[in-house]
Amino acid sequence: KANGQAGQNFEQRKWEDEVIHTALPHFGSLDKEAKSNQPKYDYILDEEIQFVQQLTIPGVNELLQYKEKSKINEHEDENKRKHRSLQESRKTLPIYRFREDLMNAIRDHQVLIIEGETGSGKTTQLTQYLYEEGYCEPDTENVEEEEEEEEEEEDYDDDDNIKLPNGKKKKEKKMMMIGCTQPRRVAAMSVAARVAEEMNVKLGREVGYAIRFEDCSSERTIIKYMTDGMLLREFLSEPDLASYSVLIVDEAHERTLHTDILFGLVKDIARFRPKLKLLISSATLDAEKFSQFFDDAPIFRIPGRRFPVDIYYTKAPEADYIDAAVVTVLQIHVTQPLGDVLVFLTGQEEIETANEMLLERTRRLGTKIKELIILPIYSTLPSDMQIRIFEPAPLGARKVILATNIAETSLTIDGIHYVIDPGFCKQKTYNARNGMEALTITPISKASANQRAGRAGRVAPGKCFRLYTSWAYQHELDDNSIPEIQRTNLGNVVLLLKSLGINDLVNFDYMDPPPMETLRLAFEQLYALGALNHKVELTKLGRRMAEFPLDPMLSKTILASETYKCSAEILTIVSMLSVNNSIFFRPKDKTLLADTARQGFFTPGGDHLTLLNVYNQWKDTNYSTQWCYENFIQFRSMNRARQVRDQLEALMERVEIEIQSNPADTIGIRKAICSGFFYHTAKFSKNGMYKTVRHQQSVLIHPNSCLFDQIPRYVIYFELVLTTKEYMRQVIEIENEWLRETAPHFYKTKKLDDDNKVKKMPKVLGKIKAELERNYS
Ligand code: CDP
Ligand code: MG
Repeated sequence: KANGQAGQNFEQRKWEDEVIHTALPHFGSLDKEAKSNQPKYDYILDEEIQFVQQLTIPGVNELLQYKEKSKINEHEDENKRKHRSLQESRKTLPIYRFREDLMNAIRDHQVLIIEGETGSGKTTQLTQYLYEEGYCEPDTENVEEEEEEEEEEEDYDDDDNIKLPNGKKKKEKKMMMIGCTQPRRVAAMSVAARVAEEMNVKLGREVGYAIRFEDCSSERTIIKYMTDGMLLREFLSEPDLASYSVLIVDEAHERTLHTDILFGLVKDIARFRPKLKLLISSATLDAEKFSQFFDDAPIFRIPGRRFPVDIYYTKAPEADYIDAAVVTVLQIHVTQPLGDVLVFLTGQEEIETANEMLLERTRRLGTKIKELIILPIYSTLPSDMQIRIFEPAPLGARKVILATNIAETSLTIDGIHYVIDPGFCKQKTYNARNGMEALTITPISKASANQRAGRAGRVAPGKCFRLYTSWAYQHELDDNSIPEIQRTNLGNVVLLLKSLGINDLVNFDYMDPPPMETLRLAFEQLYALGALNHKVELTKLGRRMAEFPLDPMLSKTILASETYKCSAEILTIVSMLSVNNSIFFRPKDKTLLADTARQGFFTPGGDHLTLLNVYNQWKDTNYSTQWCYENFIQFRSMNRARQVRDQLEALMERVEIEIQSNPADTIGIRKAICSGFFYHTAKFSKNGMYKTVRHQQSVLIHPNSCLFDQIPRYVIYFELVLTTKEYMRQVIEIENEWLRETAPHFYKTKKLDDDNKVKKMPKVLGKIKAELERNYS
C-alpha cells in the first residue's frame, strides 16, 4: 500500500527538483532552464566535478583483508558471543511471533501455503523451527516397511554404500530430512551458509546444500537447501522422496520451470505419503492461486514488517539506464543520509560495466565524498565474493550493491534504504516455431517493480528511484511475469518426466500448461535425438540421457562419444561449454595481449577443439593458477569446468561408458558433437552469412570464434546469441556427410545440397500434434 500511495503522489514529488537540485549546492548552481528538459543525471557532469583528488576510497579488498586479519585474533568467546547474538536476531524476525501458530497449522494440515514479505524469515527460519519441532526424527512407524524396500533394492542395486550386517539398526537411526528448494543457486548456497551459522554447525554437515554439479551435503544432513532442479532430479533416484519428512517449495512465486514441475510431482506424492508435510512459500500475491492448485490448502500469512517507500520516477525515459543508474547512485551518495543502495541490473556484463563506471567516478571525486563500497552480486560470482554483500558497511561508509534479479526476493540484504530500479531483467524467451531460445533484456512486471521497491523499506522508510516514467509503469508493464514453463524449451523436462514414468505429459497436473507448440517441439527434438521411439516411448538411449543433468543435446553428445571412442575429450568439451564464455580473460588495458594469447590456443576444426586444447594445456601444468594468469585464462572458470568434469565423469559409470581418450581423432570428436547438435547446423550462403539448415535463418560466426575468417561450408554451433546481429557462438566445422551418419532420424538425404533436406517427422508425431490440439482446445 505504501507503494501505491507514493506512486500516486509522484506528480508532486518532482524528483529532480526537490531531491537533487537543492541538495547539490557545492556542485555549483545549476542552470535550471537549460537543464529542465534533460534527464536528471546530467547534473553530475564530469566538468562540474573538477576537484579531482587522490583516490582515498579503500578498496574492498583491503577492507576485507583487514577484517580477515582481525578475525584470526578473535578467540572462542567471540564465537559464543556471536552465536548468542545470532540467536537473538532470529527472534527479531517477523516470522518469530507466529512460530507457534505456524507450527500448529503445519501439524494440522498436510499442505500449507505460506505467504510473507521478503525478509520475514521464511527461508532461514522455517527449516529450523521444523527441526526444533522434531520433524527430523526418524519415522519409527514406517521402519519395517522401509527395511523391506531396502532389501528389495539390494537385489539389484549393489553399487551403494557398504551394507552393515546390522543394516536395520542403521536404518532406524537415519534422520529424516527437511528439504527446501530455491530457484537460484546463489540463494541455495547463501541461505544454507546462513542457517549453518545460526545453528553453529559446519556447512555441509547437518545443514547442507545441493546445486547442479556441487553437492555440499552429507549423510548427516538434516536440513538441505537445493535448487528446484536438483530436487526434481532426486525423484529419479527416490521417486517418493522417502528421505524427506518436510518439503518446502520456496520462492514459489518465481514460477521457474522446475518449480512448476515440482508442484505437480509433490502434490502427487503427498497423496500417498500422508505424513509428508508440504509447504509452499511465496513472497506475495500468488497465494490464492497456489492454494487452488493444492486442493484449497490453507494460506498462512505472515504480516511483513515494512516501512513506507517513496517512489520516484524519471520525467522522461532514459536512453542509457546503466549510466542513469550510476549517476543516481552518486546523487544518492552525495545528497542522501547514509543507508545502503541496491541497484537492479540485468546481468554480469551490466554489473561489471556499472562497477567500473562507479569506480572511475568515485576516484575522480576523491575525498570530497564519503567512502562508497561497491559490491556486485550475480549467480556466477564465486561464492566467497557473494558472501561479502552481507557484511555491514563500515562506520560512515555506504554500500552499493549491484545485483541481478536475485536480490528481488531470493536474497535479503539488510540495511538497504535506497533502491534504483531501471525496470529491466534478463528473461529467457522461446520461439516454439523455430525452437530458438534466447536471453533477452525485457521490461519487468508491475509485481517485480513493487518487490524491488519493497527492498528499500525493510529497516526504515526508504526510497525507490525508478528509471522509467510513471506512465510507463502504468501502461507498459504487465501485471505479472509469464511463468517460465510458457517461455522455454521443454526438452530436458520432458525427458526427465518420461524417465519418471510419467507418460501422459499432456494431462500432467500443470499449474499453467505449457504452450502446445512447445511440447510438440520437445517431443520432436527428443525423437530426432533418438531418446524417444516412433511410439513416443523412452528408448534405452533416452533413459541413459536422462542420467545427465544437462540439455538433451549435450547428454546425447556424451553418449555418442562412446561410438567414437573419445569420451575423455567430449567430457572436457561439455564441461568447458557449461562454464560458457568466461574462460578467456580480457582486461581493458591489455586487450591486445589477451587477444593474442587467446588466438594462440586456436585449434583447427573449431572452438570446441580450442576449448579442449586450453583445458588439456592447463591440465598439463597440473592445473596451475600461474599458467592461467600468464595466458589470460580465468582460473575460477577453469576450476569450475574441472569440477563439472569430475561430476560428469562420475555419472559415466552409471551409463556404463568407459573413459577413452583419443585426442588426435578430431573427426571422431566432431562427429560426437554432431550427433547431439545436428539441429544446430548452418550452411554458408554468401557474404560471410550462414543459413541455419532447419529454419533458413541468417546467422553469422561470432567474431571471437577461431573460424571467424575461415568460412567453412558447413558448421555446427553451440548457441545463438543475439547482439547487434544473430551470432553463432562456439562453432565447429563439419562435413556434410557426417549429418546423415550421426542423425539418420533427422536428415533424409545423404548430402545437404538442396535447400530442403530435413526429414519430415514421422506420422506418430503428427498424431501427437492432433492429440495435443484436442487437449488444448
Ligand atoms: O525468506 P525470507 O525472505 O522471508 O527471509 P530470509 O531469507 O529467511 O531472511 C531473514 C533474515 O535473515 C534476513 O533479514 C537477514 O537478516 C538474514 N539473512 C542473512 O543475514 N544472510 C543470509 N544469507 C540470509 C538471511
Ligand atoms: Mg526467502
